[in-house]
Amino acid sequence: MLGGAPVTFQPSGRRGKVPKGCNIIEASRLIGVDIEALCGETKVCGKCIVRIEEGHFEKYNIQSSMENVSPWNEEVEAKFINLENKAKGFRLGCVAKIEDDILVLVPEESRAGKQVVSKAARDIAIPNLAQQSQHRSRMDV
Ligand code: FES
Repeated sequence: MLGGAPVTFQPSGRRGKVPKGCNIIEASRLIGVDIEALCGETKVCGKCIVRIEEGHFEKYNIQSSMENVSPWNEEVEAKFINLENKAKGFRLGCVAKIEDDILVLVPEESRAGKQVVSKAARDIAIPNLAQQSQHRSRMDV
């Protein structure tokens, strides 16, 4: 994919070049990284939050910058990302379009297929419905 933008996803380390102008969710699909996108990129669920890392990353030979994605969309992104997190580089994956090199951190909450830790198992008494209905029908006689 000549002329594409190099994108690296963390923590998986998966990377590749994607067409400039595609959003981060589209890029994640092309590269094989699962990011939650419950609303199907209609910009209403806020589950696709990722962080654009700033700086030079020697390991990936990438100069990542928030400037390398499309500008902040106040109307959509401010609903899900507060000012503090905006300053840290958080963006909605379905909104931010890739213009050049970026390193994207996918926070645990935004990873699709993440394991759900349930509470400890416990016994729940399930009434024997067959006995109950027999009992009832005897009472009805
Ligand atoms: S996929 Fe739902 S807001 Fe981005």
